[in-house]
Amino acid sequence: MRNMIEANTAVKVRTWPGRVPAHVGIIMDGNGRWALSRGLPRIEGHRRGVEALRVTVRAAIEFGLRYLTVYSFSAENWSRPIEEVSDLMGLLKRFIRHDLGELQKAGVKVRVIGTRENLNPEILALLEEAEALTAANTGLTLIVAFNYGSRQEIAAAARMIAAKAASGVLAPAEIDEDFFAEHLDTAGIPDPDLIIRTSGEQRLSNFLMWQAAYSEFVFVPIHWPDFDRQALADALTEFSARERRFGGVTLSHQSAKVGG
Ligand code: IPE
Ligand code: IPE
Ligand code: MG
Repeated sequence: MRNMIEANTAVKVRTWPGRVPAHVGIIMDGNGRWALSRGLPRIEGHRRGVEALRVTVRAAIEFGLRYLTVYSFSAENWSRPIEEVSDLMGLLKRFIRHDLGELQKAGVKVRVIGTRENLNPEILALLEEAEALTAANTGLTLIVAFNYGSRQEIAAAARMIAAKAASGVLAPAEIDEDFFAEHLDTAGIPDPDLIIRTSGEQRLSNFLMWQAAYSEFVFVPIHWPDFDRQALADALTEFSARERRFGGVTLSHQSAKVGG
């Protein structure tokens, strides 16, 4: 038994982070269906989605989350009709211009993950401005996943690491999980404890696939524009009742007689 305990302590122990998750990721889905079911154009759903995002960021601050990652535009969303893509770009620009002041006042630190190459220069400048202005803030970190895709992120990390190895500054044996994670867009950010997806869909759609290895998932049947403070509170309550094991055995599942 003693040997087993010693062997176990050699394994990297991940500790239970407490009842409030430090990092919540949200796949904000269902804007289009929300609008369609009301006979409105899809853009109206996206507009109301921005409103829901504002409410959610305020609630995240109130509930004491440290990190909130929101999936705002996937690398695959470029395949939508050009008008919808341009509406979404317009909303992102307006969101940053309109809300950056409030975010700054609330001490929110903005970080953007996703591919920046080939982005519209105006959007790129706004994203960089949001990051630069809020860089020293110590409140909630709001991570905006924009032009983001996990597979692209992982492939980019592999390219960076391969280049280092090829140039001789890195020995392949030095590449471990932590080293790899430092080359992802999310370097320095803890993995999400909880991932919420609205609209009833139950898939990741290329969101934080590496980082979600041990995330809890909450799928809510409402569309994103209807998400609010109460919906976030409910998801946090569900999270707090989950038992995370990280591959180990928790107290409630251990046999009563240990050792002997
Ligand atoms: C989420 O809502 C917003 C983005 C993906 C940008 P959708 O636009 O995907 O809405 P549905 O899924 O079509 O209802
Ligand atoms: C995922 O939603 C991307 C965002 C919420 C930004 P999608 O609506 O693009 O995902 P799929 O196509 O239904 O998987
Ligand atoms: Mg969708």
